Amino acid sequence: MAKRLYLRSFGCQMNEYDSDRMVELLGLEQGYQRTDDPAQADLILFNTCSVREKAQEKVFADLGRMRELKQVRPEVLIGVGGCVASQEGAAITKRAPYVDLVFGPQTLHRLPAMIQARRDSGTAQVDIRFPEIEKFDHLPPAQAHGPCAQVSIMEGCSKFCSFCVVPYTRGEEVSRPLQDVLTDVAGLADQQVREITLLGQNVNAWRGAIPGQSAPGDFTDLLGFVAEIPGIQRIRYTTSHPKEFTQRLIDAHARIPALAQQVHLPVQSGSDRILAAMKRGYSVLEYKSILRRLRAACPGVAISSDFIVGFPGETEQDFQATLDLATEMAFDGAYAFTYSSRPGTPAAALQDAVPQALKAERLQRLQQQLQQNERTLSQHMLGSLQQVLVEGPSRRDASELCGRSSNNRMINFPGAPACIGQLVTLRITEARHHTLRGERVTENATQ
Ligand code: SAM
Ligand code: SF4
Ligand code: F3S
Repeated sequence: MAKRLYLRSFGCQMNEYDSDRMVELLGLEQGYQRTDDPAQADLILFNTCSVREKAQEKVFADLGRMRELKQVRPEVLIGVGGCVASQEGAAITKRAPYVDLVFGPQTLHRLPAMIQARRDSGTAQVDIRFPEIEKFDHLPPAQAHGPCAQVSIMEGCSKFCSFCVVPYTRGEEVSRPLQDVLTDVAGLADQQVREITLLGQNVNAWRGAIPGQSAPGDFTDLLGFVAEIPGIQRIRYTTSHPKEFTQRLIDAHARIPALAQQVHLPVQSGSDRILAAMKRGYSVLEYKSILRRLRAACPGVAISSDFIVGFPGETEQDFQATLDLATEMAFDGAYAFTYSSRPGTPAAALQDAVPQALKAERLQRLQQQLQQNERTLSQHMLGSLQQVLVEGPSRRDASELCGRSSNNRMINFPGAPACIGQLVTLRITEARHHTLRGERVTENATQ
């Protein structure tokens, strides 16, 4: 019987991307098949996240449950990867001695060798180094699972925002070479992928050599090349950083038709004082100027964002500035978090913590405002025509289909499976809380 792998992702899109690569690697090299039931698994992997304390603690709580499975079947191997592994290293095997493998985001390609070494030696294996982007040379070619796929274009982060663990857990920014990215995208396009999301903690920090060009190319150059690949009809990217959101990139939104009308551009706070303490590297005015120019270049572009409330020293006035920004900028989709102090980050040493209850109250007020924006924008979409890439059956009603509009809204509609993977035009007929409903207005596919 095939060996079974149970894998859980706890983190961001990069974390989920890494999980998919692990499943592919272990499937191809060691014949593992994925299972949803940890009790059936021969190998249990947790791909962890340490961006907030809650996420980190959840890992240890869930690991405790896996220990019980190992007591029943001692041959089961348990591995912890991702950002908690990267930060804690061998401390994990001390706290949880039943863990067999500890690997980081940059060493996941060594898993097959680590599993072998664990079996041969009988001792836990820990490898959380940052070997310069070596992993991509050891991973199998990207496999498509439908019309949308993600491609990592860079690893790590060198921004060192004062609150954030990512530069420590994933290492400094390293860009993948242009040719490698294009090979991945072309390979996916050959497997009928139509929409590519370029991934990285700061995708617009990408730099790389461009054939026939002496100066290094930037993210806008990369977008131009990706858009040329036959079959690619839509391109998204996430996450971008305001500091490197250049006029060239804004102009690309007017020039490249395949670029989706959607940008995720985290702002974190609407107060200059807090932005400076966060070491974000831009002012509120600069951020607003980017949005104004982006909206001029690409009318209708949906802009989503991330916010942190309750950063040390945040006053009611600072928070009000964040609320005002959220109202004024009409974000379409936003994630808001309460500040979580992370050991080892500069902000962890700051005085003047905001009490937990106040943080929670501010979070609620901000979320209310953000949801209000989202509802208003949904209402604006009523009656409009939207180009939707059909992804598959609707989750709510399997007799219907679902897909995403260019501005990244999920839309359900009645249609035949033959149009999965195609771009169709829908008229929006209903705006629900999170999703929209539509109806076909063209005959691109068999109804
Ligand atoms: N690289 C992206 C950027 O700069 O915006 C996002 C990276 S982070 C994985 C995703 C989001 O988590 C951040 O935008 C921030 O809002 C939030 N975050 C990061 N560290 C946090 C902390 N210590 N407490 C609360 N939220 C945090
Ligand atoms: Fe973290 Fe800042 Fe890097 Fe984003 S840019 S990953 S928030 S350090
Ligand atoms: Fe979490 Fe690491 Fe992503 S800390 S958010 S999994 S980069």
